[in-house]
Amino acid sequence: MSKTNRTKLLLDIGTFVAFLVAMDPRTSGIAIHEWLATALGATIVVHLLLNWNWIVEITKRLFAKGKGLNGARTNYILNWLLFIDGILIMLSGIMISESVVPAFGLTLPMNFAWRSLHDLSANISLLLMGLHLTLHWNWIVNTFKRIFSRRESRPVTVLAMESKEVKA
Ligand code: HEM
Repeated sequence: MSKTNRTKLLLDIGTFVAFLVAMDPRTSGIAIHEWLATALGATIVVHLLLNWNWIVEITKRLFAKGKGLNGARTNYILNWLLFIDGILIMLSGIMISESVVPAFGLTLPMNFAWRSLHDLSANISLLLMGLHLTLHWNWIVNTFKRIFSRRESRPVTVLAMESKEVKA
């Protein structure tokens, strides 16, 4: 189990839980909603950096006449939609902010269009996130299995001793 995969999974779980909390501002309260969602924006940047190799690789292949892409193309398009939608949520969220933006001493002009855009993009993100999870389900289950498999979590020396005992 590579450390990067473990880091990725932990970060993804944290991002997903924060996303669920952000989807319900009435329960969390507006201040928590805004600060958590702003922090979520930063985590998403780390998520993108950790998966940067995949992004570059698939982009190259897409522009090389789409050889051997299969499901990766759908995945790629969906990821871009999620990214664009994420930008719309963050931008509209900042424009209607009642806590984060005023904390920096700023006041932005009121406009109900931003509020509608925020609602709409948040609802679309729920659908896109569901599809994103479905497409990555195998990776999630396999990475979980590898983290919790007892054999892999034991030190290499112990594993070597055990295999010698079996042979003897
Ligand atoms: C992942 C990011 C985000 C998601 C999923 C999200 C989702 C939502 C949802 C579902 C609502 C409720 C809409 C309704 O009840 O009709 C909402 C409201 C709101 N959001 Fe966000 N949001 C996010 C980011 C942000 C950010 C970054 C800010 C500001 C910095 C923000 C500020 C607000 C405000 C001010 C409201 C209105 C609350 C009210 O007065 O009822 N949101 N958001």
